[in-house]
Amino acid sequence: MKILLLGSGGREHALAWKIAQSEKVENLFIAPGNAGTAGVGQNVAIKADDFESLKQFVADNGVDMVVVGPEDPLVKGIYDDFKADERTAGVPVIGPSKAGAVLEGSKDFAKQFMKRHNIPTARYETFDGTTLDEGLKFLETLKAPYVLKADGLCAGKGVLILPTLDEAKKELREMLGGMFGNASARVVIEEFLSGIECSVFVLTDGKNYKVLPEAKDYKRIGEGDTGLNTGGMGSVTPVPFATEAWMKKVEDRIIRPTVDGLAEEGIDYKGFIFFGLINVDGEPMVIEYNCRMGDPETESVMLRLKSDIVDLFEGVAEGNLAERKIEFDPRAAVCIMLVSGGYPEHYEKGYPISGIDSVEGSIVFHSGTAVKDGEVVTAGGRVIAVSSYGKDREEALRKSFGEAQKIQFKDKYFRSDIGQDLK
Ligand code: AMP
Ligand code: GLY
Repeated sequence: MKILLLGSGGREHALAWKIAQSEKVENLFIAPGNAGTAGVGQNVAIKADDFESLKQFVADNGVDMVVVGPEDPLVKGIYDDFKADERTAGVPVIGPSKAGAVLEGSKDFAKQFMKRHNIPTARYETFDGTTLDEGLKFLETLKAPYVLKADGLCAGKGVLILPTLDEAKKELREMLGGMFGNASARVVIEEFLSGIECSVFVLTDGKNYKVLPEAKDYKRIGEGDTGLNTGGMGSVTPVPFATEAWMKKVEDRIIRPTVDGLAEEGIDYKGFIFFGLINVDGEPMVIEYNCRMGDPETESVMLRLKSDIVDLFEGVAEGNLAERKIEFDPRAAVCIMLVSGGYPEHYEKGYPISGIDSVEGSIVFHSGTAVKDGEVVTAGGRVIAVSSYGKDREEALRKSFGEAQKIQFKDKYFRSDIGQDLK
């Protein structure tokens, strides 16, 4: 098979690494990819949302399947666009239709969907420019801290958690006044939930689903979960509180109702669903849906998937996922993200990276890298993920931290407390 994977981050390098292990794969193309994906497949210089060029590439190269990494092309409707074009109508796209990607593309839609299907989530209301006064009143009915969410996609920056009512009111005015452009024309205000977060992933053919290993990611830049939000500074799997009993609640109350709800509403969904959950006194609740895998969760979760991922993708495409086998590695897996100094605010790019080849026993996934004059250089905030197995989380973390020392670039930073909050 010839597979085209879209995206250019650590998630895509991890997916490419896993796809390339499949005996079913004859060629793996990654568009646009990064310096790491070039080592497991062939990078193609087309942007992940340039549908016209992608379709022509698929037609010219006899690509049999397209796997979508990031949310952007999905929210823009790549699934429907490929289906509607005779050059690509017969080529399965692993990822939801535009209507399905709205689960991530609109927080208001996601909340309404959860309400319709009785899926546990925080109490909320949605406001726009014409209902600002009602929004300000609704805030007064809630307790601090206050959670404000821009309805649309904001590259991970659209959620504000404010400690005081005054700040919440001020930010609501600003958001509805165009702080995030059109994405914050509507704002979801919701109750704050207190607990530990957990990311649960399923792959679905629209009818059946397979649950992948769960993971926890670490979003803040600073040790002890302090400072600004980032794309993610590391991840661990398994998550100790995600016991069999807890995961049964997740399946019964959240996963099954979501998959059935999508089918009932006639929404075509063949791809990953990422459930951003929070454990509130032992009860799982949904914080958000994403229509793709998580990053940096994929950089640990892929290590624990023993089965051929391409076989599972075929099950999704053919609608017979229930017949496919899925097996997991019982070991723990973690990833530590090495980032550019200054990230998530201003940082420099283009610094040479040394020591990648001396890493032993861990797996290096490139996130923000590029090749310049034959040398691998930094090209983003999150630069490299160092992923490891261990008999337990501690062992895996020791390995990743040890190997991470060998990789050097100017102003390298990482969090040394990944996984330390879990018992
Ligand atoms: P989201 O983009 O919806 O994932 O939100 C970003 C982050 O904000 C989440 O990962 C949580 O850490 C936090 N968050 C969002 N909604 C809530 C909530 N209702 N209660 C507590 N924390 C929240
Ligand atoms: N790790 C969170 C995300 O991918 O959105």
